[in-house]
Amino acid sequence: QELEMKLEMLEKGGYEHFMLKEIYEQPRSIRDCLRGRIYPNEGRVQLGGLQEYAEKFKNIDRIIIIACGTSWHAGLVGEYLIEEYARIPVEVEYASEFRYRNPIITEKDIVIAISQSGETADTMAAIEMAKEKGATIFGVCNVVGASIPRITHAGAYTHAGPEIGVASTKAFTAQVTVLTLIAFYMAQQKGTVNHSKMVELLTELDLIPEKVQQALLADAIIQEIAAKFKDSRNCLFLGRGSGFPVALEGALKLKEISYIHAEGYPAAEMKHGPIALIDEEMPVVVIATKNSSYEKVISNIQEVKARKGIVLAIVTEGDQTVKAMADYIIEIPDASEAFLPLLATIPLQLLSYHIAVLRGCNVDQPRNLAKSVTVE
Ligand code: G6P
Repeated sequence: QELEMKLEMLEKGGYEHFMLKEIYEQPRSIRDCLRGRIYPNEGRVQLGGLQEYAEKFKNIDRIIIIACGTSWHAGLVGEYLIEEYARIPVEVEYASEFRYRNPIITEKDIVIAISQSGETADTMAAIEMAKEKGATIFGVCNVVGASIPRITHAGAYTHAGPEIGVASTKAFTAQVTVLTLIAFYMAQQKGTVNHSKMVELLTELDLIPEKVQQALLADAIIQEIAAKFKDSRNCLFLGRGSGFPVALEGALKLKEISYIHAEGYPAAEMKHGPIALIDEEMPVVVIATKNSSYEKVISNIQEVKARKGIVLAIVTEGDQTVKAMADYIIEIPDASEAFLPLLATIPLQLLSYHIAVLRGCNVDQPRNLAKSVTVE
């Protein structure tokens, strides 16, 4: 038994849980995901799997992204990036809804299926259906040789390495990284981003692993905040733009492993419902980094404070304005809006991790959840 415990400790690389190990692996997993795929000086993205279809991107009408759970959140980030940079309309669908809805799909469509495990039953069934209707299917998977990569026409692996914790962390940031690459690759084919801008974007992307490393330095502060929030019964996560999927993912992580009821909302939608829940006991986590929606988010924070809610804001390093308004802040390094999800996700993963540990929950194997859902 002692030997078994030692072996497990070894597998966890000295971390208390797989989830924590996987959170800390992200600078490396994102780097692995980028390796050989970006050439910043040349302003060029290379995605071997998509090369064959490069011509097709020039005149496609739309892209459909299908996924479940955390992978669906990565899809929402992908929608934002592909529309912003490649100017191709994107629809993001829950695989389980899509497959039963008699959706309109033609040979002109490209479907991107995202799945960490590559085995999710609903995602597989949705792929088969879209394939029958003639769509071209790309897979974004983590597990090499899994079922989904075998039934798709092409794809790109996320290369995050094995993920053991049931709550997805490093697989999510790797999915977002691949979708960023896909968006830039399509933009390159379509000519929607000029060369110097692309050089700039890729140079910044190349530095993201280091910025993720910096974001991890907030761990001690996050642990202290976790202690204040651990007995909450509800928690609201707000974000706008690409910060909205980050809010959804933050809420999902918290409910999955700590069993605190949490909801992610587009910040401006708060007034259409969740605002009714806000009181002195309600923590509201707000993605309030300096990007295009900064001013709007500030007024959302004021709305929460006016109702005595407790605000934890994820801010850009050095921010003073939000600091003066919020009860707690966590800083992340400054970055262009495109890369915000990769950085803002990190403190939310750590927050739910520490809350769950403080509540005595089984972090790596939360009740009722499975790492891969191979039944409907
Ligand atoms: C399960 C896992 C989640 C995952 C979802 C989709 O619910 O617990 O972490 O996001 O399935 O899985 P996939 O392997 O398709 O990404």
